[in-house]
Amino acid sequence: MTRIDIAPSDRGPRSGNAVEVRGIVKHYGETKALDGVDLTVRQGTVLGVLGPNGAGKTTLVRVLSTLVKPDAGTAYVGGYDVLRQPRQLRRTIGLTGQYASVDELLSGYENLYLIGRLLDLPAKEAKARATELLERFSLTEAAKRPAKTYSGGMRRRLDLAASMIGRPRVLYLDEPTTGLDPRTRNEVWDEVQRMVAEGSTVLLTTQYMEEAEQLAHGLTVIDRGRVIASGGVSELKTQVGGRTLHVTPAHTAELPEMARCLHEAGLTAATVSEDAGVLTVQLADDEQLTTVVGVLGTRSFGIASIDTKLPSLDEVFLAITAKPAVTAAPTPAKETVA
Ligand SMILES: Nc1ncnc2c1ncn2[C@@H]1O[C@H](COP(=O)(O)OP(=O)(O)OP(=O)(O)O)[C@@H](O)[C@H]1O
Ligand SMILES: [Mg+2]
Repeated sequence: MTRIDIAPSDRGPRSGNAVEVRGIVKHYGETKALDGVDLTVRQGTVLGVLGPNGAGKTTLVRVLSTLVKPDAGTAYVGGYDVLRQPRQLRRTIGLTGQYASVDELLSGYENLYLIGRLLDLPAKEAKARATELLERFSLTEAAKRPAKTYSGGMRRRLDLAASMIGRPRVLYLDEPTTGLDPRTRNEVWDEVQRMVAEGSTVLLTTQYMEEAEQLAHGLTVIDRGRVIASGGVSELKTQVGGRTLHVTPAHTAELPEMARCLHEAGLTAATVSEDAGVLTVQLADDEQLTTVVGVLGTRSFGIASIDTKLPSLDEVFLAITAKPAVTAAPTPAKETVA
């Protein structure tokens, strides 16, 4: 990845970017938690940060929340420098960490009211906002109970509500819906969308591809502390390239023979699922599609149906995180610096 090194003092954030990260490095001994991460989040958009366990997502969120000091690189949030303007920066953000951080002894309502007051909301507004968010996250009934009596999903919802109390300009959500049931997950998605509609910018880490597809305008995939791909959902799908071909033979018994012929023709990615009665081929390009049709046609196999589909985001994720980072590096950012 090409990077233009400029002294931090010469470089401020670009207007229109709520989050701007350049060359952020954070090592823990031998572990390269972050190894030169670049990313931007446009104001008023949601960036989905995807990556396998241990990729560096939480470390990135911690750096951007001023909880962890990077070893190198620059990062601006809402125009504030993480290193030099931590206080102003913290007033700009809301954070839902990966682990719940509510006060166990206080009730749900008290937790939210207190945070509102700490954020300098007038008492009346803190009260109204706490009540509103408890309602939105289906916690009204449990509002007066100490948080220690809440289930895991209820704590998570309270935590999310807490990060939204002050209507932060920039909201970090670190795997916000892990462990939530589908209905609650939808509530969280609605609330995130509402925050964005009201002008917030969101950086969201997630393991759920459906969540990324639902919420994110852009995606950044990190692996072993490095950005290995970035772009929109469809861009990433195209980047991975692989369309999948499904062939359903008229006679399931012919499946192994079909696969053998395709393997002979060099299509080693052909696999059969006898249970489902389909032959699946990961297509590298259009030429391979022609080859498959040619091979199957020449041998006069009976075919019931044949169709192709773009990869799901899950498949994209598996494909790019399985490759060595060096071969999956994104194209260098086309940027010039004045
Ligand atoms: N305080 C720390 N001390 C030592 N190593 C750390 C520390 N924090 C993170 N790491 C290491 O840095 C790497 C990145 O961790 P991080 O928590 O950022 O990953 P993640 O992408 O959030 O993973 P997950 O999906 O499991 O939450 C891991 O190898 C982790 O063990
Ligand atoms: Mg994490």
